[in-house]
Amino acid sequence: MAVLVMVLLAAPAAAESADVVIVGAGGAGLAAAIEAADQGVSVVVLEKMPMVGGNTLYATGGMNAAGTSSQEALGIEDSPAVHYEDTIQGGNDLNVPELVEIMTSQAPAAVEWLKGLGADLDDVGRLGGSSVNRTHRPTGGQAVGPHLVQVMFEAAQDRGVEFRLESQAVEILRNEDGAAYGVVVDNRDGTYTITAKAIVVTTGGFGANPTMFVEYDPELEGFGTTNAPSATGDGIAMLTEVGAQLIHMDQIQTHPTVHPGRSTMITEAVRGNGAIMVSRDGTRFVDEMGTRDVVSTAILEQEGQSAYLLFDDSIRASLAAIENYRRQGIVTEADTLEALASELGIDASTLTAAVEQYNASAAEGVDEAFGRSDLPRSLTEAPFFAVEVGPAVHHTMGGVVINGDTEVQGSEGSIPGLFAAGELTGGVHGGNRLGGNALADIVVFGRIAGQHAAQF
Ligand code: FUM
Repeated sequence: MAVLVMVLLAAPAAAESADVVIVGAGGAGLAAAIEAADQGVSVVVLEKMPMVGGNTLYATGGMNAAGTSSQEALGIEDSPAVHYEDTIQGGNDLNVPELVEIMTSQAPAAVEWLKGLGADLDDVGRLGGSSVNRTHRPTGGQAVGPHLVQVMFEAAQDRGVEFRLESQAVEILRNEDGAAYGVVVDNRDGTYTITAKAIVVTTGGFGANPTMFVEYDPELEGFGTTNAPSATGDGIAMLTEVGAQLIHMDQIQTHPTVHPGRSTMITEAVRGNGAIMVSRDGTRFVDEMGTRDVVSTAILEQEGQSAYLLFDDSIRASLAAIENYRRQGIVTEADTLEALASELGIDASTLTAAVEQYNASAAEGVDEAFGRSDLPRSLTEAPFFAVEVGPAVHHTMGGVVINGDTEVQGSEGSIPGLFAAGELTGGVHGGNRLGGNALADIVVFGRIAGQHAAQF
């Protein structure tokens, strides 16, 4: 008996296998899992956190796609070609064109696919840097991320996908020919190996790893983050170990409107639905719907390196996500602009003049002061609201190099059996990601990764 116990204790954990192993259960991993399972292969998803969703759980503003049924129902004219142009221009022309072409041309089908799984993406608004309303979110302006995670998680479970939580992949195994054939996994019981015909890595970026983002961009020392704690870049490190090439690692985006005390990201959809920003002297200072790099820089030039996001009751009513900020106690509210100015310690006549000037621009449809092209409404309905905002790290545009089939690229081309999708990949967004393009990226390339891994 004693001998048997010793043998059992000494035995290595049993090796296991699946057709496809997916590392990371955020939006890209969930999309990949559904697509792979739909091709009839066995799928295991490894997730280091105790829950699925990753950074996608934090997504609020919506998912960009051009030419969808939701846009058509609202009479919005748009095309993947315009989405492509906006994305390249917003990315400061640093994007990999092939990847942008794939994302923008397949995003509408991705929206219809999500709707087919049960998602509500019928509210369409605009985020910074887009020239057309193409950001899809649930009716009433609820946060999009938790909704999509729930829909995709349920769809994956319905298809028999196995999820292993608190299970962190720490190493990709490759055979003599260089093909990936398995993953070493750490969980609370120890370490084991799972073999697979194909591996998809969807572990996200490194926006929650200050050491890493400061290493690539020292100017970000001291910045907060909007990211989920899981976004630590360990998938990038793991893939680098097996020879994956990296691109654009120093391209790191800050989101302009994050509450400095709580690190709560105030969705760009608030600006998209008409909010303005004023500095402590009560004046506007930027086109609020500019790209994030431009708006963040403008805020950092203001006194206190922060600004006030200002909106009225009609905007509050247009976006259910705002209720979450009010519940957190970070929104200042008042029945008049004068009273709001007094609460904020701003000169009342300067603030009211700024809002009157903006309302005149909105009525005319031309913002001569800052060239804002999207002027959805005047700010006239009391009560009025303000939130202090400043930039925090939001998206890491760099990552591992993939081709259009999401195959991870080593120095000699594709690493057989190894696929990647989502924020741990680089090149799609160039030097600056447009709001709403992260979800387009993760769903489009997650689906492609699942399909190709299953076929491999
Ligand atoms: O502001 C936001 O809702 C952020 C959206 C995004 O980064 O895509």
